[in-house]
Amino acid sequence: MANDIAPYSGPSIPGSPSRRGHWTGRFGFILAAVGSAVGLGNIWKFPYITGVYGGGAFVLVYLGCVVLVGLPLMISELMIGRRAQLNPVGAFQKLHYQGSPWQMTGWLGVASGFVILSFYSVVGGWAIAYIFKSMVGFTGTAGEIQSQFGDLVGSTIASVGWHTIFMALTIGIVLGGIKNGIERWAKILMPALLFILIGLMVHGLFNTDGGSQAVAFLFNPDWSKLTADGILSALGHAFFTLSLGMGAMITYGSYMRRDAKIGRDAVTISILDTVIALLAGLAIFSLVFSYGLEAGAGPGLIFETLPVLFADAGRLISVPFFFLLTFAALSSSISLLEVVVSYFVDQRGWGRTKATWVQGFLMYLVGITCATWGSVFDTFDYFSTNFMLPVGGLLTCLFVAWVVKNSVRIEEFGSSGLLYKALIFVLRYVTPIAVLITLLHGLELLPFMSYEE
Ligand code: TRP
Repeated sequence: MANDIAPYSGPSIPGSPSRRGHWTGRFGFILAAVGSAVGLGNIWKFPYITGVYGGGAFVLVYLGCVVLVGLPLMISELMIGRRAQLNPVGAFQKLHYQGSPWQMTGWLGVASGFVILSFYSVVGGWAIAYIFKSMVGFTGTAGEIQSQFGDLVGSTIASVGWHTIFMALTIGIVLGGIKNGIERWAKILMPALLFILIGLMVHGLFNTDGGSQAVAFLFNPDWSKLTADGILSALGHAFFTLSLGMGAMITYGSYMRRDAKIGRDAVTISILDTVIALLAGLAIFSLVFSYGLEAGAGPGLIFETLPVLFADAGRLISVPFFFLLTFAALSSSISLLEVVVSYFVDQRGWGRTKATWVQGFLMYLVGITCATWGSVFDTFDYFSTNFMLPVGGLLTCLFVAWVVKNSVRIEEFGSSGLLYKALIFVLRYVTPIAVLITLLHGLELLPFMSYEE
């Protein structure tokens, strides 16, 4: 069985996977992986859906989903990647056999990278645009400030222009490779992000009078607001926010060294991602509450509601905030591009420079359609989040639970004790069912839910 491949160990043989770049160490890997996980999902989506589904109760359910679905899946992806030392397509083949149908999972991942980055980079472009808008300052009536967003989205030239800048930055980082591109930039962007976030949170908690309300909102569960829809959204969000289901963690895992502990690192990444989402929630809600606004301000929260508050709160708050958003988006977008690049490098023998320029440019072109037509944007967003990622995650989890040999799993996990047994149990019986339910819900196919508008 090709399943028996020897794990990668050290020496560099030309053409072998050991020639790949690797993270310089645990710190670099964790920062890069947290960079991928922490993105628009944390800063924009998490606070917003938490608002809709009743604060603390939703947060608790979400934490449960991270433990039962997110964590097992992240461990699975990292195990596959590190074992194979290859991109998602190559990894499924190597752990099964050449031409195995499981490689479809890898294909789906590469395609998802394409689809997600094309709309993600449009939002990244808006974030950059808003850095400049907040430098100029938000002035005028609430309605005028809010309509700036509609003007930006409605202007193809502006949207495409900012999208161009965002993609150029993404390509520029990925061109540098693992150590000198992705890891180096993660080491700059992530500490900067944390610094800004903590500053904004401290300001929100202690400098505005919405702080205590924000804490109560995020941590006091109001179970009456938690609907079935909320629980399913928590599941779906756990997925998206941890960058699972498309091989991003397989790819990042393929640059891990043998001495890294996958279980421990996955726990660290999940905790950091969750803590950062909560910090963002505190920062945003204390501001929102201090102006007497409602928590569930809708998807327009960041680009419409907040700028109105920023007009009053000032540049010292708004400029760092949009830097934060841009950094979060950028450290995620590089992981999306890297999945596609690693496929062309490993499977097609392209050089990294060529793969990054050509694929980055193609993604840029597809992104232009998202920047131009809202309907393309919405379709890509809906289809990838609700269909491609859950299917990819389901297949990945089934593969590790039922196909990969026990000996291989134990070697990658690093032990065969109780934790390992619990992991396999969850991967076999809990995660796939939870993901399947998320998938059916995302497609509005669950029999016991009502999907009328
Ligand atoms: N996790 C990122 C966020 O929360 C988005 C993201 C980056 C992603 N890479 C991914 C989502 C891979 C799914 C798969 O914004």
